[in-house]
Amino acid sequence: MELYRRALELLPGGTQLISRRPTRFACGVSPVYAARARGARFWDVDGHEYIDWVSGIGAIVLGYADPVVDEAVHEQISLGTMYSINHPLELELAELLCCLLPCVEMVRYAKTGGEACAMAVRIARGVTGRDKILVCGYHGWHDWYLAANLTAESNLNTHLFPGIEPIGVPAALAGTTIPFAYGDIAALGQLLDDNRGQVAAVMMEPLRSEAPPEGYLNAVAQLAREHGAVLIFDEVSTGFRYGLAGAQGYVGVTPDLTVLAKSISNGYPMAVVAGRREVMEPSARMFISSTYWSDTIGLRAALTTLEEIQRRDVPAGLWDFGARLQAWLNTVAAEVGLDVRCGGLAIHPHLHFAAVDDLARRKLATLFIQEMAKRGCHGYASFYLNAAQQDAELEQTIAAARETFAILVEGLARGSLDELLECQVQEEHFRRLVR
Ligand SMILES: Cc1ncc(COP(=O)(O)O)c(C=O)c1O
Repeated sequence: MELYRRALELLPGGTQLISRRPTRFACGVSPVYAARARGARFWDVDGHEYIDWVSGIGAIVLGYADPVVDEAVHEQISLGTMYSINHPLELELAELLCCLLPCVEMVRYAKTGGEACAMAVRIARGVTGRDKILVCGYHGWHDWYLAANLTAESNLNTHLFPGIEPIGVPAALAGTTIPFAYGDIAALGQLLDDNRGQVAAVMMEPLRSEAPPEGYLNAVAQLAREHGAVLIFDEVSTGFRYGLAGAQGYVGVTPDLTVLAKSISNGYPMAVVAGRREVMEPSARMFISSTYWSDTIGLRAALTTLEEIQRRDVPAGLWDFGARLQAWLNTVAAEVGLDVRCGGLAIHPHLHFAAVDDLARRKLATLFIQEMAKRGCHGYASFYLNAAQQDAELEQTIAAARETFAILVEGLARGSLDELLECQVQEEHFRRLVR
């Protein structure tokens, strides 16, 4: 917290990513600064060891400091990491992505998820000659996306979090990005009708921690096609965790374009925009260009990570592990008599605390985060899985949850949740209709 106080003086907002703000956890109890990480765990600057249930905010899929990926990266570093000319890795990774993902015929690279989303939107606008983008989910920090809040600051409430002021976003962009509600196909159809001939893309997270309603994503694809809009899936936070053919393979719906980042390169900066030739090829004539997109650390890390994901069949392992985690947490909750359910898709389990209102629910979640942190488990009330989490992590977490749930039960019985909280109530986390 001492470092954080210094950071607030030096770094506007204190952290580079809102999800790393201490106020998103149990502020003052949860760890804030890491010194190192390995496998499923990290050590903070005070030397405390934690199991990491946030997995680098989703970027770590094999585990921290994975020996295979890191060795490949070290070898690449010894060869020089970026050059004045191109490197064949660009083609190798593209060829692998074409084999893995149903929608992919051509590929472009970037470094971050938000940047790649902006690139996908540019391509969709360029190829259709239209301006408007319909969105569902979170797609990064850029002007095109936050423009959604120019017409009303509540527009992104259910996609990101409430109260985002679009400060610094040109007012002229008002009306160019319009959010739609997940699961409501009639509402999407209405939006497309209301903006007939103007919609460049329907962009969405296809799912996150709940299964999509039966037939919903097929119906979205059908509508996008009918209206001549490019269908873009944002698989930044899902991707290859869900299956060897990505989230698009898991849901069985093939978009025109997809965006990948985070989980493709096990923590090394790398992002991809890829899709059908017809949509991607015209982007050769658009000004989309950057020095570091060819950096070979990200390319080598992504190629090796994807090979390892296949070789170790990581998705199958994560689904199985998540199901065991859910079952154990539900068993322990029943044992101690706490009204909480660990649900959602097993790949991304989350706790639903029964509570009278939103504040009471957030208090319970904060107390959970606080007490788990004291027991060496860092996370939210949801769990980002990676392949390094094994039985030892499961056992330690279940033991910690048993004690934590018992504290919550007692706090509820005595009406003493406020006294038990050693920190402010956790600030609203990304709240998504796409869960
Ligand atoms: C679905 C989705 N899209 C885009 C982004 C933005 O990615 P980045 O933080 O790498 O810019 C995120 C980040 O969490 C995300 O979850």
